[in-house]
Amino acid sequence: MNKVMDKRALGPGIVEFTVAAPLIARKARAGQFVVVRAHERGERIPLTLADWDSASGTITLVVQEVGKSTRELGEEFAVGDAIRDVAGPLGTPSEIMAYGTVVCVGGGVGIAPIYPIARALHDAGNEVIAIAGARTKELLFWLDRLGQVSDQLIVTTDDGSFGKKGVTPAALQEVLQARRVDHVWAIGPAIMMKFCTQVCREFGVPITVSLNSIMIDGTGMCGGCRVEVKGESRFACVDGPEFPGDQVNWDLLLARLGTFKDEERCALERYLAAKGVAR
Ligand SMILES: Cc1cc2nc3c(=O)[nH]c(=O)nc-3n(C[C@H](O)[C@H](O)[C@H](O)COP(=O)(O)OP(=O)(O)OC[C@H]3O[C@@H](n4cnc5c(N)ncnc54)[C@H](O)[C@@H]3O)c2cc1C
Ligand code: FES
Repeated sequence: MNKVMDKRALGPGIVEFTVAAPLIARKARAGQFVVVRAHERGERIPLTLADWDSASGTITLVVQEVGKSTRELGEEFAVGDAIRDVAGPLGTPSEIMAYGTVVCVGGGVGIAPIYPIARALHDAGNEVIAIAGARTKELLFWLDRLGQVSDQLIVTTDDGSFGKKGVTPAALQEVLQARRVDHVWAIGPAIMMKFCTQVCREFGVPITVSLNSIMIDGTGMCGGCRVEVKGESRFACVDGPEFPGDQVNWDLLLARLGTFKDEERCALERYLAAKGVAR
């Protein structure tokens, strides 16, 4: 059982949890994730280790409420409650080394997982340019944290309500046009990572992306997270979640993300009906 030590709202439908998980906090590295099961009958959902503190034995998770399980976590778990299972750290850590100048792009809830990577790259001596973007001002968070571990922070909103108006790949393009960059990281919706990859291809800059394929066990046994990278099947949970963006079959990933749309809608409707919430 993993106790919720702190909980705060970061924006509409975005919740930050600090959870007691001493063994995970001791081993966590940037780029890794956990698989969470809220209660005995809950489904397993992957969530990135957005931060951790080995001294206090806690990890930080940032959850965007998109369906039944993430809403359940956000709406029903309070400080003092116990999350049934938190398994991890899972996945291959980010390849942190001295690249030179790196750009770290976080889109939407992807701002949370890009933070520990930017921090590790900064600690490794890289010049870090961070780009954080969201649809609108209210959905931006952790700009202070990201600012502390980057040499330059560029903020974008699709509607122009804060920072530069536009999407993160456009901001990335401007940076690559203006100066030499040695490596790019991008985490966010698959479509955003696909466009960031296209921009990097144009400028011949390598890009690492973190694939959000549908995961179940997180250990390489179920095959649920299969993705095509460089023409071969790979398991995002154990071979990734990070891969070179220009080797990813984006169309296949985008199609597979929609595989369970009907079941997901059904689960959310049942959950809301049980709570007496009309849709
Ligand atoms: C390695 C990894 C790290 C992630 N880190 C975070 C994070 O830090 N914060 C966060 O809010 N979300 C994160 N996600 C996505 C998160 O796991 C899904 O949003 C969640 O599983 C959705 O569950 P649901 O029941 O609420 O919604 P559902 O109704 O089941 O699904 C809603 C949408 O979420 C996506 N999704 C559903 N199930 C999964 C799954 N098992 N794995 C991935 N995507 C899924 C699909 O696109 C789906 O259409 C991560 C995903 C992966 C693969
Ligand atoms: S989640 Fe089961 S193989 Fe990756």
